[in-house]
Amino acid sequence: MSVDIDELAEKLETQVLEDARGVFSETVIEYAYNPRNVGEISDANGVGKITGICGDTVQIQIRVEDGRIRESGFLTDGCGTSIACGSMLTEMIKDKTIEEALMINSGDLLRSLDGLPEEYVHCTVLAVDALHAAIDDYRTNFRTTRQTYAR
Ligand code: FES
Repeated sequence: MSVDIDELAEKLETQVLEDARGVFSETVIEYAYNPRNVGEISDANGVGKITGICGDTVQIQIRVEDGRIRESGFLTDGCGTSIACGSMLTEMIKDKTIEEALMINSGDLLRSLDGLPEEYVHCTVLAVDALHAAIDDYRTNFRTTRQTYAR
């Protein structure tokens, strides 16, 4: 008996997607399976890395120019939901000022993803905390830069 590996993989993927559709919104599935801004950006001037209560880590990098977040990227070793959260959050902060980005909370991220099962809500908190850590890092760098220019 021969097994067509490609056919088997396709069936498996279809099954996984069907199972996911029973649990997650289409938005979550889209952002998890087709992640945006995943990876490391060049010239980041703020990086935040947080490990959540689940033991997974999300890292977010931002590049701020003229007071706005022009580019961002994320890395995670977490669940598919953390990929969806990093994807969505990095899109939400694009071209936002630091103050505007800081106003985005985990509830906003949750709504943008059209909701999550209760057991995955903490993934939104992890992503937002990583963003705040990246902004803190940026502010520290920025202050250093300003002091350097002031001398
Ligand atoms: Fe850990 Fe989602 S980030 S379960």
